[in-house]
Amino acid sequence: MNRVYIKTYGCQMNERDSGAVAAMLRKRGYAMVDSEDDADVILLNTCSVREQAEQKALGKMGHLTRLRRKKPHLVLGIMGCMAQNRGQDVLDRLPDLDLLVGTQKFHQVPDHLDNIITQLQAQGPRPSTIVDLDEEEGSQNTIRDHLDDERQVSAFVSIMQGCNMNCAYCCVPMTRGRERARPIEDIVREVKELATQGTREITLLGQIVNSYGRREIPFQSGKSPFVQLLEAVHEVEGIERIRFTSPHPRGFKQDLIEAYGMLPKLCEYVHLPVQSGSNSILKAMKRPYTRERFLQIVEDLRAVKPGIYLSTDIIVGFPGETEEDFELTRELFESVGFDWGFIFKYSVRPNTSAEPLGDPIPKEVKEERNQILLDILNKSSLRRNESLVGSTQEILVESPARRGEGLYTGRTRGFRKVIFPGKPRLVGELVPVHIEEATASYLRGSLVLSGINAQDESALQQRSTA
Ligand code: 5AD
Ligand code: SF4
Repeated sequence: MNRVYIKTYGCQMNERDSGAVAAMLRKRGYAMVDSEDDADVILLNTCSVREQAEQKALGKMGHLTRLRRKKPHLVLGIMGCMAQNRGQDVLDRLPDLDLLVGTQKFHQVPDHLDNIITQLQAQGPRPSTIVDLDEEEGSQNTIRDHLDDERQVSAFVSIMQGCNMNCAYCCVPMTRGRERARPIEDIVREVKELATQGTREITLLGQIVNSYGRREIPFQSGKSPFVQLLEAVHEVEGIERIRFTSPHPRGFKQDLIEAYGMLPKLCEYVHLPVQSGSNSILKAMKRPYTRERFLQIVEDLRAVKPGIYLSTDIIVGFPGETEEDFELTRELFESVGFDWGFIFKYSVRPNTSAEPLGDPIPKEVKEERNQILLDILNKSSLRRNESLVGSTQEILVESPARRGEGLYTGRTRGFRKVIFPGKPRLVGELVPVHIEEATASYLRGSLVLSGINAQDESALQQRSTA
């Protein structure tokens, strides 16, 4: 009764939360499995950001509840943003659910599962759904406990929860609540523990990381709390690379830009969501900056770190987006030359301030705008990757590649994925890789062998000539 499968939808925050739940469950004696067919407990960690993400999870759970007619011992739960945002609605549609857990209650999952399973084993009637959606004071401090026995070469560290912005399209303030920061010391302690267990790269996570601690922690020597945090984690021995996601253009000030020049572990890659290149749409979206300000940030970043890698999020088809508005977005998107990005077609989210505007832009128009930006993106990503062919890049080796015997995968400091022939003992190491081939989404290369002992060298050579 103790094999658990967790399926995760949505963002890195969700991946991290699923990882934390998995670690807590392992400590309780549950086994995590990779396939729902092998599981006694199936948990979906859900996302509400777009309607499609919700529909997918609802469809999946509908299918699982039907499956349970044949496997009555199966325990089914929904966690995360959709549970929080649409709890009652989810229950109405899926009355047979065993568990519904909100975004501030992940740490309660082991207790709830223990209870449900004990009752099922006693062979009484199926207990009614456990619903745990309340807000919890201090919940940002409750699920740091994801320190696992398994080594994570690259780990997510949650530094805050919630969001105080009110972007007109966005449901996150509803799903994740008001902004709450974890203390710097707590975060540093977690990062140190991760480093001791072999983590080499951390990604600091928050809805808007650069507003970290603004109410709780004072500025020091002109440095915002977020930059103070970056400096503190930079001190941690064993951590070689630091990333963060996502910042907001509004708080992207000089102290953060300068951090790229001062903190060598801070990787030269920024994901900075712009959403639109039209000032009137930005205003309608309630995004408090202009395209000019965004372009200035890009210019300042490039002045400090020429060649810095940039990615962004764009929404096409926000209500009122005209051809001219889209053209401004297209122009900005192309002229910045983003190395990567995520393009979303607008979808109405309940209870947001844009909800009353409806969804007036026809589907085909959104589709066309989406495609135009995707084409630009593929070209600029390929161009960037091709420019790396012939160079040697520092790669953090993450794991064996999913396909190809003897192949390993890792990333450059600029977050480009690289595949190359390697060895198990290189996992977790920073190695030089000579880049030989580029596609839009990854690079291929081979280890630069100086510094690797002769036995390894001949083994690697044999493999490459095989
Ligand atoms: N419709 C489409 N895209 C959205 N996003 C957020 N809300 C919506 C919505 N209602 C996108 C934004 C955000 C990313 C995580 O999802 O671009 O940055
Ligand atoms: Fe992440 Fe937002 Fe989706 Fe929640 S709703 S999973 S916070 S993207």
